[in-house]
Amino acid sequence: MKNQKNRETDFAKGLEGIVSNTTRIGYVDGEAGKLSYRGYDIEDLAEHSSYEETVYLLLNGKLPTLSELEEFTDKLKGNRTVADEVMNRITHLPCPCHPMSMLRSGISLLECIDDTCRIAEDLEEKKEAGIKLIAQTATLTAAVARHLQEKEPVPPDPALPHGANFLYMLRGERAKPLEERVMDLSLILHADHGMNASTFASMVVASTLSDLHSAVSSGIATLKGPLHGGANERVIRMLTGISSIAEAEAFVEKVLAEKTKIMGFGHRVYKTYEPRAKILQGYAKKLTELTGNEELFEIAQTIEKRVTEAYGSKGIFPNVDFYSGLIYHSLGIDESIFTPIFAVSRIAGWVARILEYLEDNRLFRPRAVYTGPTDLPYVPVRERG
Ligand SMILES: CC(C)(COP(=O)(O)OP(=O)(O)OC[C@H]1O[C@@H](n2cnc3c(N)ncnc32)[C@H](O)[C@@H]1OP(=O)(O)O)[C@@H](O)C(=O)NCCC(=O)NCCS
Repeated sequence: MKNQKNRETDFAKGLEGIVSNTTRIGYVDGEAGKLSYRGYDIEDLAEHSSYEETVYLLLNGKLPTLSELEEFTDKLKGNRTVADEVMNRITHLPCPCHPMSMLRSGISLLECIDDTCRIAEDLEEKKEAGIKLIAQTATLTAAVARHLQEKEPVPPDPALPHGANFLYMLRGERAKPLEERVMDLSLILHADHGMNASTFASMVVASTLSDLHSAVSSGIATLKGPLHGGANERVIRMLTGISSIAEAEAFVEKVLAEKTKIMGFGHRVYKTYEPRAKILQGYAKKLTELTGNEELFEIAQTIEKRVTEAYGSKGIFPNVDFYSGLIYHSLGIDESIFTPIFAVSRIAGWVARILEYLEDNRLFRPRAVYTGPTDLPYVPVRERG
């Protein structure tokens, strides 16, 4: 498109492929199907790390020593409590209200009551505010989930690690070891993923030197959209709508013939089997066996096998949402809470990338190609036809 007047002739819709900054935080290699945080392969982190250690790594650029990890874990635990005035308000919002909107409102309310967060000036203070917010987001999300079931919030248990405590606050009782492991793993796998839309949105807000809570609120607002978070909700609706392997086979043939998009398949960056889906697949099998959802796993496998046969050559494979939906469903979590759980994890990436960007801040200010009319004569309102 030509527009000499603006001297902007080339543009990338949605900023696709545009490089806006450098980062040392994470790398997605879509061709090789690799994801790393701070240089560490996601498969190693999934096998050996914990969410707490992964957050430390993202925020600090190195794996912690034992004492650093203990101190950091204690800090997260010590910051879990959310003031009653915020809890009471988010549970008295005009309903029906989307859980992501409740969570976003909770973060905004925290900003209103927490001076230390609002006035955090330097990057160390912002990091402390970020750690507090990471801890509180899990508490807020669990309270939102329980409110939707008309249940009272469960106070955090300081004896439990982040993922196990989150499940405890959701249920009001301790989960089984495999369930706790899978929640921790899922939080690790979703913690960061390149310059995705919610990360970018939160960085844009932070680049104006607005406060961290506002930046995180915009991340949550962005993640809420079905083109970003939310595909796993649609995956579980698809899977639970199928009641047998035979029905799964018929379903997949029908969608292939109709050439409709199948939820939980394909990715803008990965053109091979993505590592997060591969890791979650193994755990989904174990978890569905534990929770009596084996048939749902078999249905998922049937769909995966046939879709991969048909579309693998086009680079279409299951994505992380295909198995995370199955996992959260098997953990007994309502589908409306799947995207808020994404936020419970991804807030670590948002905070890490905001802090990194602010080290050498530059206000985000792209431009647009003007394609409207020019030099129109202004006609007074009474003279317009
Ligand atoms: C994630 C997604 C938006 C990535 O899309 P993209 O890289 O921009 O790819 P496009 O939507 O342009 O699709 C490219 C081709 O692959 C096909 N395709 C992509 N995803 C597909 C899917 N899930 N099922 C069937 N076909 C798919 C498209 O129909 C298109 O085919 P064509 O070239 O014959 O027209 C897309 O794969 C999708 O909508 N997936 C389903 C939703 C989902 O699972 N989202 C979670 C992502 S983590």
